[in-house]
Amino acid sequence: MKKILVTGGCGYIGGHTIVDLIENGFEVISVDDLSRGSLRMLQGIEKIAGKPVKNYKVNLCNADDTETIFIENPDIVGIIHFAAFKSVPESVSEPLKYYRNNIDSLVNILQCAINYKVNHFVFSSSCSVYGNTNVLPVEETAPLAEPESPYARTKQIGEAICRDMAKQYPGFNVTLLRYFNPVGAHSSAIIGELQEKPENLVPVITQTAIGKCNEMQVFGTDYSTRDGSCVRDYIHVMDIANAHTKALQYTMDGNNESNCEVFNLGTGKGVTVLELINAFEKVSGEKLNYILGPRRAGDVVEVYANNAKARALLDWDIKYGLDQMMDTAWRWEQTMKREAAKVQMN
Ligand code: WQD
Repeated sequence: MKKILVTGGCGYIGGHTIVDLIENGFEVISVDDLSRGSLRMLQGIEKIAGKPVKNYKVNLCNADDTETIFIENPDIVGIIHFAAFKSVPESVSEPLKYYRNNIDSLVNILQCAINYKVNHFVFSSSCSVYGNTNVLPVEETAPLAEPESPYARTKQIGEAICRDMAKQYPGFNVTLLRYFNPVGAHSSAIIGELQEKPENLVPVITQTAIGKCNEMQVFGTDYSTRDGSCVRDYIHVMDIANAHTKALQYTMDGNNESNCEVFNLGTGKGVTVLELINAFEKVSGEKLNYILGPRRAGDVVEVYANNAKARALLDWDIKYGLDQMMDTAWRWEQTMKREAAKVQMN
């Protein structure tokens, strides 16, 4: 079996991607310093996949510690690099923390990839690299605007570093995956997104519905959109996960047209905040306690993907609709509530 190193494997998208990789016949090891990820993700993966996944508790900003992984695993053939901080507001308040963490870790893992001849590298990027684009649906060839946050800028810089590595090393295959808004959870509800203090819309919705938050705000209903609230391209985390597996298979099978390709991972459908709330209420049967509040600084008004390139070249397609995104997110929240109740009883 081909061995893949997943950095950030104890995180939300990393963990779901490990499940998809194993289901598609790959052997997987994880590296995660657990500063944001949780071993609970690996426990869930073991239950779903029926096998344990080894995690190296290593901070990738430490070059020597990072190298030990490659010394111990000379058979790594591909890397999927998720490990990074990803809170937009935190990046605004602590920019240097984001530049140091997200860039140093990328440089170290790339150095090891070159030194240990790992020739397939998938980089976790983001639609936030497009900034406030007014050409919609946005294509991969769209010019990258001034990013809205240091987080988004670390993704732009990360893409540029990967591009330079591909130029310098023709045998090194880089695939840049620009996620839109990943939401939902594995259909088993055994794994999902762990957000103590939720910032993103869907965890805020489910935590409000379950009673962890007593009300939520819709940030702005005076935008020039069909109902005044912001538009995003919400995509199920398992569709995102499968795109990573397909991206590795794409370069491993030698199907890539160049050794540095970029793909949008979105459904191609824009959904407003109010439409998403309605979808959640319909699927869950819960009435959500929300108020219409002021705009949130840094929000992009509207963004959704043109995903034709990924669907055509990666043999990838969307399997989950909005109702399934809401249903799996809600069932995951209910799982967490049951488990918290069990812990309290013991
Ligand atoms: C979505 C919409 C909010 C919370 C995220 C990540 C970013 C990137 C893309 C990966 C906005 C509104 C939110 C709330 C609300 N992911 N909202 N009330 O900002 O699009 O970016 O996905 O790379 O890293 O941050 O996602 O879920 O925070 O917001 O009205 O309580 O929901 O204003 O319009 P965003 P989000």
